[in-house]
Amino acid sequence: MSVSDPSLSQMREELRVSEEFLARYNRPGPRYTSYPTAPVWNDAFGVDDLEKIHAEADAAQTPVSLYMHIPFCESLCLFCACNVIIQKDKKVAPPYLDVLKKEIDRVSLGVSRSRPVVQFHWGGGTPTYLTPEQIEGLFAFTRERFTFAQEAELGIEVDPRVTSRAHLEVLRKLGFNRLSMGVQDFHPEVQKAIHRIQPYELTRDLIANARELGFDSINVDLIYGLPHQDVVRFANTVDQIISLHPDRIALFSYAHVPWLKKQQGSFAAFLPEGMQKFEIFRTGLLQFVEAGYRYIGMDHFAKPGDELAVSQEKRTLHRNFQGYTTKAGADLYGMGVTAISGFRNAYAQNHRDLPNWQNSIHDRGLATMRGYHLSADDHIRRAVISRILCHTVVPKKEINAEFGIDFDTYFAPELERLDIPRTDGLILLSRDEIRATWLGRIFIRNLAMVFDPYLEKQHLAEKPLFSKTL
Ligand SMILES: C[S@@+](CC[C@H](N)C(=O)[O-])C[C@H]1O[C@@H](n2cnc3c(N)ncnc32)[C@H](O)[C@@H]1O
Ligand code: SF4
Repeated sequence: MSVSDPSLSQMREELRVSEEFLARYNRPGPRYTSYPTAPVWNDAFGVDDLEKIHAEADAAQTPVSLYMHIPFCESLCLFCACNVIIQKDKKVAPPYLDVLKKEIDRVSLGVSRSRPVVQFHWGGGTPTYLTPEQIEGLFAFTRERFTFAQEAELGIEVDPRVTSRAHLEVLRKLGFNRLSMGVQDFHPEVQKAIHRIQPYELTRDLIANARELGFDSINVDLIYGLPHQDVVRFANTVDQIISLHPDRIALFSYAHVPWLKKQQGSFAAFLPEGMQKFEIFRTGLLQFVEAGYRYIGMDHFAKPGDELAVSQEKRTLHRNFQGYTTKAGADLYGMGVTAISGFRNAYAQNHRDLPNWQNSIHDRGLATMRGYHLSADDHIRRAVISRILCHTVVPKKEINAEFGIDFDTYFAPELERLDIPRTDGLILLSRDEIRATWLGRIFIRNLAMVFDPYLEKQHLAEKPLFSKTL
């Protein structure tokens, strides 16, 4: 897209907002990696329920997506809101891997070999906390127990600070084709405040090595809204990233959740907020679009030929716990402490602390801590929310045909509530569809929230459950 492209100039115009507008829309809300979201799930859902869901999925012979959680990191980045265990001493890895293998073995018993694994993702924490040998061992163990599709997408999250050339070589040899790496921000003052010193050269060299070894797709994570960031500093980071030509970029909004992560309080006084944070995002967004990246939505950018961009155009894009995905229809089996599984009719999460996860795997082979069975209404709303987040348009006819409802009647209260975002320029409403504008795509979580009836109850919770939408 060039500067003279009408949609870029149109975007520049649309993305000018007032303080009052921000105050209205910048409020706590979920990121919708699932609907209903995790706080709605319940503890009554246990291992027996998950076993039934596994059997149901196997009978349906759905494609398989595997997720493996490696929770460890060597040091704590102070902004981090992930489920991590900080442990400099690597001796924690072997016992963890032993239990994980038990879980993999048990899960594989419920997945017949006729079902192809189309996606295998290692997340964390930091999976390259493991040595290349440990990675090789874990991979071989898994591969023996499942049938991997020839074209399977094999992805892993790597931290450039702890990922060596030897790591990359082993990963490539095993068939990993996607790398996702954390960068966040290159400015020294920002890096110091978040306790993550990662010079530009380190990231540059890792990307160069990965390219040389033939990884198909490289993603970089950035965060806007970190302490000491401003428009000029972050614009520099974005320029540096653009010069490295990653295939995808995740530009996350910094999630400030000090009631969950106390260490975030250490830099609370230096956080850009409100209009200042929005301007940092707006500048970065325009830089990426001007450099030719497509804005996929909810913080994600991809090169025009990238699968994500193509899939969005074809309206086949989906969203799951790892964010956007092109693998629609696959059931997700999560393994490891805190890992989440997602099936057509249910979600399940493993215990979030090591001892409970470990004991449960020893006793039962699975370690479900909570989960959820979707109701008929949940299915309808999930389909609407997914279309908003992935396609930025909801054709009413599609929902009517899929669920045998009359959209306008079923969602009469929601359509009424959409009147304010319509007046504010976030959506175009017609007889046939709801369509997000450019501004609406930026505040897409707010649009999805209109269709989420659980939020009202959650807002009564003592502590806020979600970070703000900006
Ligand atoms: C599991 S980490 C990525 C892999 C590796 N551990 C690393 O940091 O390089 C996943 C990503 O979540 C994002 N993240 C973590 N905490 C966040 C927060 N509080 N707000 C926004 N994004 C956050 C970061 O961009 C981070 O790169
Ligand atoms: S950002 Fe990555 S490396 Fe840092 S603590 Fe979080 S998961 Fe670990």
